[in-house]
Amino acid sequence: MLVLGIETSCDETGVALYDSEHGLLGQELYSQIALHADYGGVVPELASRDHVRKLVPLVRQLMHACSVDKADAVAYTCGPGLAGALMVGAMTGRALAMAWGVPALGVHHMEGHLLAPLMSAQAPQFPFLALLVSGGHTQLLRVDALGQYTLLGESVDDAVGEAFDKVAKMLGLDYPGGPAVARCALQGNPERFDFPQPMLDRPGLDFSFSGLKTAVRIAITQTQDYPDKAADICAAFERAAVDVLVAKCGRAVLMTGLRRLVVAGGVSANLKLRASLGEMAGTEVWYAPVELCTDNGAMIAYAGCQRLLRGEHHGLALELFPRWPLTALRGGVV
Ligand code: KG4
Ligand code: ZN
Repeated sequence: MLVLGIETSCDETGVALYDSEHGLLGQELYSQIALHADYGGVVPELASRDHVRKLVPLVRQLMHACSVDKADAVAYTCGPGLAGALMVGAMTGRALAMAWGVPALGVHHMEGHLLAPLMSAQAPQFPFLALLVSGGHTQLLRVDALGQYTLLGESVDDAVGEAFDKVAKMLGLDYPGGPAVARCALQGNPERFDFPQPMLDRPGLDFSFSGLKTAVRIAITQTQDYPDKAADICAAFERAAVDVLVAKCGRAVLMTGLRRLVVAGGVSANLKLRASLGEMAGTEVWYAPVELCTDNGAMIAYAGCQRLLRGEHHGLALELFPRWPLTALRGGVV
């Protein structure tokens, strides 16, 4: 089954063709980073308008590049995300499916992230643990099958990606903040600042990143300036955030006895996180390739394909879910 995937939930217009037999045929991605950079964050209305401008030409470009004039089904992100931005992808996907006379399916954006690492040839067997780390989510899940997700812990305040973004903003670094902080941290000494590792002293698998963010703010305003100060702060912040994520994953392994871990979402592109998780003895860890960690159409095409193959699809009247917990998803046929 050849599936066209469409992702427009935030500031990337992503399209891809995934074939259930031959894998990923191709993908195209247009990032709106430059559009939002002056504002230090995504401006929803500008995002929607840009998806309108870019999406259809991008689909045409993809189909041309893959020498394909029709797909067997269309999968589009239907939540969570920015309502206007979601509408652009959903309407376009639904309309294409209608024109081609094929089924269409709305996909949960975080299920797309979660399943992206399974696209590889050596995909993990169920059940496994999943750490979802993006701009809006920090969650530990137990994954028993497609659609069977049990929440083990999550952030009680900021998501870890959001903390990276806010730290970058405080330091006047580029948007999006994660890659900018990681880059800056390379020149820094993580020992110069001693930031808290929130929630490590408490039992359970929840996270909190707002205290860490506040500690960074205090360090910025209350320590005397010196040439490498921003780099040292980035390095210490990154280490604290990564250490907390790794410690909670270790705890989840102990609590569940599961020794397979899938790490997904934008922050899973972070190389320090990958290096630290790599040192977790006795646990095998899976990631998507770095370019498929942040938002893209391939993960939506792949996740959609898994559900379409089970006979799931959605009707002509679209439903969008700007706020939508992953655990509300069901494994059964809709
Ligand atoms: O998954 P994603 O592309 O979008 C959401 O669904 O939110 O994640 C975006 C988040 C942003 O907060 C961004 O700063 C962060 O992922 N991010 C990173 C890195 N690359 C992206 N954070 C840390 N290190 C990175 N290399
Ligand atoms: Zn995302």
